[in-house]
Amino acid sequence: MSSPRFRPYEEDIDRQSPNRNLAPVSAEVDAEQQLWVGGCRLADLAAHYGTPLYVLDETTLRAGCRAYRQALTSHYPGESLVLYASKAHSSLAMAALMTSEGLGLDVVSAGELLTAIAGGANPRNIVLHGNNKSRGELELALEHGVTVVLDNWWELDLLERLCGQREQRVRLLIRFTPGIECHTHEYIRTGHLDSKFGFDLEELDGVLRRLAMAPWAEVAGLHAHIGSQIFELQPHGDLAAVMVKALGRARDLGHRPRDLNVGGGLGVRYVASDDPPAISAWVQTVSAAVAAACGQQNQPLPRLLCEPGRSLVATAGVTLYQVGSRKEIPGVRTYVAVDGGMSDNPRPITYQSRYTACLPQRCRDAATETVTVAGKHCESGDVLLHHIPLPPVASGDLLAVFATGAYNASMASNYNRIPRPAAVLAHGGQARLVQRRETNQDLLHWDVLPEHLDQSGPVPIR
Ligand code: LLP
Repeated sequence: MSSPRFRPYEEDIDRQSPNRNLAPVSAEVDAEQQLWVGGCRLADLAAHYGTPLYVLDETTLRAGCRAYRQALTSHYPGESLVLYASKAHSSLAMAALMTSEGLGLDVVSAGELLTAIAGGANPRNIVLHGNNKSRGELELALEHGVTVVLDNWWELDLLERLCGQREQRVRLLIRFTPGIECHTHEYIRTGHLDSKFGFDLEELDGVLRRLAMAPWAEVAGLHAHIGSQIFELQPHGDLAAVMVKALGRARDLGHRPRDLNVGGGLGVRYVASDDPPAISAWVQTVSAAVAAACGQQNQPLPRLLCEPGRSLVATAGVTLYQVGSRKEIPGVRTYVAVDGGMSDNPRPITYQSRYTACLPQRCRDAATETVTVAGKHCESGDVLLHHIPLPPVASGDLLAVFATGAYNASMASNYNRIPRPAAVLAHGGQARLVQRRETNQDLLHWDVLPEHLDQSGPVPIR
């Protein structure tokens, strides 16, 4: 199983739908074979900011936002709102950028909520998700007036108490599992019956009845999310029809829901053989299915909400590493180790995800060897790329891994006490720091050495 070579100079870049590219839309290779992103030479960024480094291309990020909004305007006859699923990459800069493109934000914790607000998001365009939101998180949501995605009965009771105490109403989207299967990794499938998220479809009636008698709750609409990294369009078309039916049921039970939130899930290209649908095709499928179902069921058009994460940010990201050691095992494989790994990109070890990479200083050199790119963590499974063809790789070379903008920085850890990388936003020949590199000192910051710990020395062993 070998990954096809990455050749940005031969690729047609899809500027309308960045999720279909391997590289950021602004990627270019110059006459010296150097790779540039956002008008910045990657080798210069590595020299200035160090490695590993997350590079985010602003043009790609904005192109994705515009693609979703444009497609909704073209294909959906009613109102719509795109909510960026900030779990894909949550930072102040990203919240500010998404807000500047007219997107709202989906958040799943107090941390993501505060990041969204501090980044300038309008609380009215924020929805709070979670299957086990804490009391504090719900209070924060009430304080800021954000919409809560109601997930379960326990939360319903808790919200009832909190709203009672605060004499406040809350805007709710009710999350349910629509019973729709899709083909993606088991860990990122959520729309089937056996899911920890949301109410079962059969329970929905009971929830709607209970809320019909709850003056503290405004049932603003319904929510479902069927999974992530999905390449098929059909499940989202089917989902829309199921949801319109459920909206009709909510109306029958006395609610006046306005919003239908179909979640996220559109896939992206990680390796050349991946062929995800374009953003416009996804939006068109969902829009047509909602409009058709409303027509058939004689329902008014809801405001259509969607929550893309990965398809907005994945291909905007490139991670730069420096190559260090090399280990050749004759007849088996050659390991090339980089200065990061599963702590900055846990996706290969978690989901067996595949990636594409190149040497950003020798983009056009022929690939003459096949190597396995390993990380630096004390774990055999810490491999970023298996069997990847590259030009001869030497210690000191830079390696660029593509499509790392989603679920990399946001899932990064300090495993082995490795500081998290810096992140820069590149645009028009300028790179701006958006996340500072952690230092080794930062890692000690949260540790506490108890005062009365017995440090008198080791007990003699006989
Ligand atoms: N809305 C809800 C309620 C979600 O749970 C998710 C993702 C999204 C929207 C955004 O989905 P997207 O457009 O990004 O597919 N860590 C995994 C992905 C987990 C996705 C969790 N939920 C990965 O690295 O593949």
